[in-house]
Amino acid sequence: MNSRLCQIALLATRRATLQYRRSLPSIQRVPLRSISHSAVVNEQYLQGYKDSERFHGEYPSRTHYCGDLRASDDGKKVVLCGWAQSSRDMSQDLIFLPLRDHSGVTQLVCKGDEEIKTQIKSLSVESVICVEGIVQKRPEGMGNKKQASGQVEVEITKIYCLNPATPSLPFWPNGAQLPNEEVRLRYRYLDLRREQLQHNIRLRSLTANTVRNYLSEHGFTEIETPTLFKSTPEGAREFIVPTRKRGQFYALPQSPQQHKQMLMAAGFDRYFQIARCFRDEDLRADRQPEFTQIDLEMSFIKIADIQNIIEGMVTSIWDKALGQTLTKASFPHMTYNQAMREYGSDKPDVRFEMKIADIRQDVKDILDETTSMDCMVVKDGARGLSGGDLKAMQKSLDLTSDFAYVKVNEKNLETWPMKCGALRYSQQVGGKELNAKLGVEEGDVVMIHKRDKYLYGGNTTMGRVRLHVSQLMQGKGLLKLDEEKYKFLWVESFPLFTPDEEGKRKWQATHHPFTAPFDEDIDKLAREPSEVRGQHYDLVLNGMEIGGGSIRIHSPVMQTFILEKVLELEKYEYKRFDHLIDALGGGCPPHGGMALGFDRLMAILTDSSSIRDVIAFPKAAGGKDFVVNSPSAVTTAQLNEYGLSLSSSDS
Ligand code: AMO
Repeated sequence: MNSRLCQIALLATRRATLQYRRSLPSIQRVPLRSISHSAVVNEQYLQGYKDSERFHGEYPSRTHYCGDLRASDDGKKVVLCGWAQSSRDMSQDLIFLPLRDHSGVTQLVCKGDEEIKTQIKSLSVESVICVEGIVQKRPEGMGNKKQASGQVEVEITKIYCLNPATPSLPFWPNGAQLPNEEVRLRYRYLDLRREQLQHNIRLRSLTANTVRNYLSEHGFTEIETPTLFKSTPEGAREFIVPTRKRGQFYALPQSPQQHKQMLMAAGFDRYFQIARCFRDEDLRADRQPEFTQIDLEMSFIKIADIQNIIEGMVTSIWDKALGQTLTKASFPHMTYNQAMREYGSDKPDVRFEMKIADIRQDVKDILDETTSMDCMVVKDGARGLSGGDLKAMQKSLDLTSDFAYVKVNEKNLETWPMKCGALRYSQQVGGKELNAKLGVEEGDVVMIHKRDKYLYGGNTTMGRVRLHVSQLMQGKGLLKLDEEKYKFLWVESFPLFTPDEEGKRKWQATHHPFTAPFDEDIDKLAREPSEVRGQHYDLVLNGMEIGGGSIRIHSPVMQTFILEKVLELEKYEYKRFDHLIDALGGGCPPHGGMALGFDRLMAILTDSSSIRDVIAFPKAAGGKDFVVNSPSAVTTAQLNEYGLSLSSSDS
């Protein structure tokens, strides 16, 4: 484009921007926290935007990434593209301009060229530029060891400003201070430019490829299943999707569970999918309403076959992502009952000991048939746990009088049970014997809790206390985690059914209603559902459940019996599974499978404290997506189209 044409184009763009801006309501500058999505945001966002400085036309093709350059490139003519950082004036004739792309930062330098100097000075931080220049090795001792390209700089011969950034950016991704998470989630595309998030998302992609390669090499077929599914009472609360057929809805899948079982009936033998799942659950650091599973299913297999495949896949991920070797011994096994008894959790964190002892036999005289007594010794607890810590813990964990603790000292070393809650009523218990059995010493804190003998659910009170105390003790440097950073554990032999806490029915499925009982427990299905163990296994890593799976029921008769008789679903509820029952009855092989929580796995691989840090566009509290501001209202006309209306209290 010649310069006259270029000027006309620039004027037209400037006019369009001005017209656009005038069409927006005028605003005061608003503090970031009160920013809401509207034209107001655009107005503020575009303040000072220098579109006139944007280069129009063809710019040269990139020759290198910023992080690629080395001393050996000295003298090379290069073209780099990226985001301009804050420039630094070193003198009249020397300006530094760091340039960042996903691979790193290169120091650009201008040594006195007036035109380039002016251009650099007018660049706002995060403007996108293309630069032609010559690589120069930095003088001995002047390199920057923190940057991959730190041994060189590039002397600029030409700058093309491809797109200036507004000077009113809410934050700079490379800035020393980041705003709170809400602002970062709102401007996620800025936050994603940060090195850490770039690393997380790229490692996620590498891991997805590793999974695909591994499973393909092991005979799995990748198959997509529908996202518009059907409401079925599988466990979690669903998201419902209205349709234009009055009263007819889809539901988003909680997991591809039912479809993958039908794929086994269809003869696919080994299926996998990196599948998006949807559950309308409250958000936590390890939970999103929309999340991803590495989902697989296999025919004609046993539990050990599935576990072998998962172990092989995880070993391959650890190798590719972290360069670490795992072996068969990295994956020990534990039953649900042992996990609940000794760690008070169905996903025990075995990176530290502090096990829970069942002292029922030692204090039988104060317990009835239905109760038991947990006891946990906190080594050096007298030093690590202040009275304030313990009181705060009792409050935050809502501990009742069934819980008690005592600090053991020289004076009460053999008499401490007399001071420890319910223990003092036992004629049976002797301090000396308990000390020998539990390894109690001066300086320890002993905690007890009277609980139901029958173990069910995800944790016990002492299990929650164990985790709380471990945090306090770690914070004070008195409890060290195992040197092995990643501690895997298979937890298995779960009870097939758990008492329904909502009290609507007697039982709910511990995992999901398609899990098969152990063959030897089948005859207890009708008589004693609490005694039936499921062929269900979870993979736990560092105290987090990263996956769950099971051998499935392949008999339509048994599946119907469980839905109807044990889980006591209403007819209209279990009829919603007819497609699956039909598939089981139509020649379905014995089968089983598993799903790993991909986001949780990535959070552990990247040392992230929340799965939000490994998802490009995660939801915030309340399921909010701050980037696009959803969920959002729709018009009455849209509602009418779906035959829906809001009750007056909602509008
Ligand atoms: P399950 O419900 O145990 O099993 O889910 C498997 C794994 O998915 C992860 N996960 C989640 N991750 C993030 N946010 C959530 N809201 C969320 N919910 C679950 C966990 C969990 O271990 N269909 C069965 C699997 C099977 O039986 O094959 C299923 O979905 O890491």
